[in-house]
Amino acid sequence: MSYRVCLIPGDGVGQEVIPAAAEALAATGLPIEFVPADAGWGCFERTGEALPDATVDAVRHCGVALFGATQSPLRKVEGYRSPILAMRRAFDLYANVRPTRSLPVPDSRPGLDFVIFRENTEGLYSGRERRDGDTAIAERVITRAASERIARAACEAAARRAAGREAGRARLTIVHKANVLGITDGLFRDTVREVAAAYTMLDVGEMLVDAAAMWLVKDPARFDVIVTTNLFGDILSDAAAGLVGGLGVAPSANLGPAVAVFEPVHGSAPDIAGQGVANPIGAILSAALLLDRLGETTHAGRIRAAVDATLGADVRTPDLGGTATTGEVTRAVIERLETRDWR
Ligand code: NAI
Ligand code: MG
Repeated sequence: MSYRVCLIPGDGVGQEVIPAAAEALAATGLPIEFVPADAGWGCFERTGEALPDATVDAVRHCGVALFGATQSPLRKVEGYRSPILAMRRAFDLYANVRPTRSLPVPDSRPGLDFVIFRENTEGLYSGRERRDGDTAIAERVITRAASERIARAACEAAARRAAGREAGRARLTIVHKANVLGITDGLFRDTVREVAAAYTMLDVGEMLVDAAAMWLVKDPARFDVIVTTNLFGDILSDAAAGLVGGLGVAPSANLGPAVAVFEPVHGSAPDIAGQGVANPIGAILSAALLLDRLGETTHAGRIRAAVDATLGADVRTPDLGGTATTGEVTRAVIERLETRDWR
């Protein structure tokens, strides 16, 4: 049997980093069939659609996809909708998972290994906005159902982490702003607490989002698994990426019941696109998350080890203070995947 992985490079540096991630997947030796698909601003200009039905069908058919990034037009364009937001909706990708792990690069903090579970379907991020004259209003919808689902996903992940540890415990931190948003974040906090009560192997705590931002800068090693609402997770996870080398190395997963889409956290980076210097590590680590989803955790670990060995050997793109190109970093990772004894 072979796996099918849908590849959606999208715009800008997506065209450079997704092929790199696909090469890394292929170099694991796993039987993988790649199914290319189109989406994004370039696709919209060519076809009038940012996310063609054929792409949605391909993602559904494969069950897992690697997505690069797309470029948003600066002004609202009739008919254009961000493909990743549309996919999150189409496939009910309710959990946005963003791991942060220390890397052997000069501006990474040491000793970090935590993960943010961000609710991905509602809250302030869903863009329910309206304008009433000179007043602009955004609606922040929080539901028990969505809070329960993200809580369960975070608790399951925390329980797996606990199982892999000698001490056998893991910390779940609920991040919210229930002191001010008592109704919405109150429901979120209470719902997560109810779900987490069944996971006796977890130490469950909570933190206001502003305090969480402070501790993320001052003492990030205190975090293990964070669960939070959509916009807070969006912001905190970019801050977290900054602790270990920046946007170029940050991977993410969008998990749904039947489909999962994996993407580097960064965007299309128009300032460096086409120069061959985009950092492929965020995309390659996203491919490792994809293998985790497929149950191929050994191979996912091999990719992470090859990435660490590459960065540790000072093969780095300019955003990490190096001089290597996208291709050189990718080849260095693949060489280490192919030559290391991993059995
Ligand atoms: P960005 O992430 O594209 O770039 C921010 C900075 O990080 C830039 O200086 C860029 O050069 C650098 N950077 C990003 N990825 C890098 C990589 N792989 N290697 C080295 N350096 C890298 O964010 P920005 O500039 O705010 O947005 C650019 C476009 O991307 C916009 O149209 C935005 O809407 C879109 N975007 C799309 C996302 C998605 O498709 N999921 C996510 C974020 C932004
Ligand atoms: Mg973001």
